[in-house]
Amino acid sequence: MNEVIKLLNGHRSIRKFSEQPVTDEQLHAIISAAQSASTSSNVQAYTIIRVSDHGMKEKLSVLADNYSYVLECPVFLVWCADLFRLRTAYELHENPDGGYISTTENFIVATVDTALAAQNAAVAAESLGMGIVYIGGIRTNISEVAKLLKLPKYVYPVFGMCIGYPDQTPGQRPRLPLQAILHENTYRPEQLPEPIAQYDRTMKEYITQRTGGKRTSTWSEDMKNKLKTPARIHMKSFLEEQGFLKN
Ligand SMILES: Cc1cc2nc3c(=O)[nH]c(=O)nc-3n(C[C@H](O)[C@H](O)[C@H](O)COP(=O)(O)O)c2cc1C
Repeated sequence: MNEVIKLLNGHRSIRKFSEQPVTDEQLHAIISAAQSASTSSNVQAYTIIRVSDHGMKEKLSVLADNYSYVLECPVFLVWCADLFRLRTAYELHENPDGGYISTTENFIVATVDTALAAQNAAVAAESLGMGIVYIGGIRTNISEVAKLLKLPKYVYPVFGMCIGYPDQTPGQRPRLPLQAILHENTYRPEQLPEPIAQYDRTMKEYITQRTGGKRTSTWSEDMKNKLKTPARIHMKSFLEEQGFLKN
């Protein structure tokens, strides 16, 4: 295996960071790697907001499910899907009332672009010996987060990301067996039961060990529980208010 694949396969989320700062030069290298990701039609439909203000970080950590690491991490980034810049470019040439900015397709373009750039940043940070964790928790109180960050219409925060040097070495979270993920030519539902059963056994062992026996659930039980309760059901109306998903 080469070094890049080794690095990718060594990923684990980091939720406790040392005091060691991340320099601006390092951050700019990380963002440059993010910008090098593929991007749909070269739209580059994302904006990254670095939140360095302590008070704002405090507010964000509370809004984002009270995660202490949002406040404690040396660098906190909010990754925003951004069609505002696309619209700004459009308006240089056309009447602002026109244009198909709010399509579901453009929503997908912006969300995918944001995720691709963010994952490049994650890998770049890890290659420098840092650790990261994504923070989907910023969508829990998304209206308040959008207000705090003064997001214009056609922009929404997809997730946050903590970056810094690790102060912990958590075990790696096992992934589903390849057979569950990789299908040949057509989708094959009959391929799923066996690897899911296998993964249930793996995750039960992993969780039992990681939590000292406090949790013993399997993966499929966790997924069942995930679907039993509605999560962030406000997203649809928020996105529509922000100018997304009109047609
Ligand atoms: C989009 C996204 C949002 C996430 N949001 C959170 C979060 O809000 N809080 C958290 O502690 N971890 C969050 N995570 C981290 C996942 O829980 C983690 O990646 C997953 O359990 C696999 O573990 P690993 O990254 O250590 O391999 C998020 C991951 C992704 C990709």
